[in-house]
Amino acid sequence: MKWRLPSPLANSASIALLLGALLLTSCAGHQQSVVDPAGPQAGQINTLWWFFFALLSAIFVIVMVLTALTLTRRHRGIEQEPLEQTHVPSAATEATLTRVVTAATIASVVILFVLLVSSIVTGKNVSELQDRKNPMVVEVTGLQWWWQIRYPNSDPRQVLVTANEIHIPVGRPVMIRGTSHDVIHSFWVPNLHGKRDLIPSRITTEWIEADRPGVYRGQCAEFCGLQHAHMVLWVVAETPAQFKAWFDAQLKPSITPSTPVLEHGQEVFLSHACVFCHSIRGTPASGKNAPDLTHFGSRRGIASNTLPNTAGNLGGWIVNPQNIKPGNHMATIALNPPDLQPLLQYLESLK
Ligand code: CUA
Repeated sequence: MKWRLPSPLANSASIALLLGALLLTSCAGHQQSVVDPAGPQAGQINTLWWFFFALLSAIFVIVMVLTALTLTRRHRGIEQEPLEQTHVPSAATEATLTRVVTAATIASVVILFVLLVSSIVTGKNVSELQDRKNPMVVEVTGLQWWWQIRYPNSDPRQVLVTANEIHIPVGRPVMIRGTSHDVIHSFWVPNLHGKRDLIPSRITTEWIEADRPGVYRGQCAEFCGLQHAHMVLWVVAETPAQFKAWFDAQLKPSITPSTPVLEHGQEVFLSHACVFCHSIRGTPASGKNAPDLTHFGSRRGIASNTLPNTAGNLGGWIVNPQNIKPGNHMATIALNPPDLQPLLQYLESLK
C-alpha cells in the first residue's frame, strides 16, 4: 500500500471540519460557557475575550494574506544567482526597508500595549464589583474529589453544610471563600466568573453574582489527581424567594422514615461504615469526611455530579464506587442483596 502525503486541500478540509466540530461543541450547551455570561464579572471577561478574539483574528488574517502574497509572488530565479552576494541594495530600497521594519515594530508594541491595558482595566473593573451592599458568603472547600459547601452564620442554627451544589439568589453579590483540605483545586464557574485556586491552609476569595436565574455548571480547573475531571459542581441561581425556600428546607433535619422499607433502609445506613464518613442530620450519622447527606435526594447528581441522581446510578455507585470513579476515597461496603433496595429508597427519600 502506498502512502500519500495529504494535499493542502485535504488538510484545510480537515482543519475546517475540526474547527466546525469545536464550534458546535462550544454551542452545544450554555450551562458551562465563558461566552454566555450570567453575571457582571463574567460579562466583563466576555467583553475582553471578544476584543482579544477580534483583534488577534484580524492580525492572523493579515499575516496569512501577506504570507500567501509572498509565496505566490512571481519567481525571480534566485537559484541562478551566485552564492556570494554581488547585488548591493540601493539607498532608496534600504530606506524603504528601514521604514517598514520600524513601522512593524511600533505596531507590535502598540498592539501588545493595548492588550495589556485592556486586560488590566478588565481586572480592575471585575475587582471593583465586590464593593456591593448586602453580600452573602459561601465557603467552598475542595476535596479529592468533591466540593463541600458551607453557608456560615453567626447563629449556629443558621449554618448550612451541603455538597456539590451551590444555591444563590439572583442579583445578590456572593463571596466565595475557598480553601482545600488536600491538594490545590480550582473553583471555576465560567458563566459567572474566572478561575480561583483553592489552596490548602489558605483562603482565597472570589465574588460572583448572577443576573438571571439558571443552573450553571462549574468544574475543577486545576489538575488534582485521578478524578479531577469528575469534580463537577452546580450553581443554581434562583429568585430570592425560591432561594429562601430552598435554604429553609435544607436547614431542617432529615425526614423520619415513614414506611417499613424506609425504616429498614435507614437501619442499613446506620449499621454500616457509611456513618464514619457521612452525616445525616437528625440521625446518629455524623461523619465529616464525605458529603453531608441530610438532603441528598434533593441534589442533582451523585459522586460530585459524575452521574445524575437516580436510584439506579446510586446503586451502581454504592455497590462499586471504584468502577465509576477509580481512586476515589468512598469505601466499598459489603451489603446483603436484600438490603440494597431499601437503602437506595431511603437515601433518595432524603429530599
Ligand atoms: Cu479538584 Cu481538579
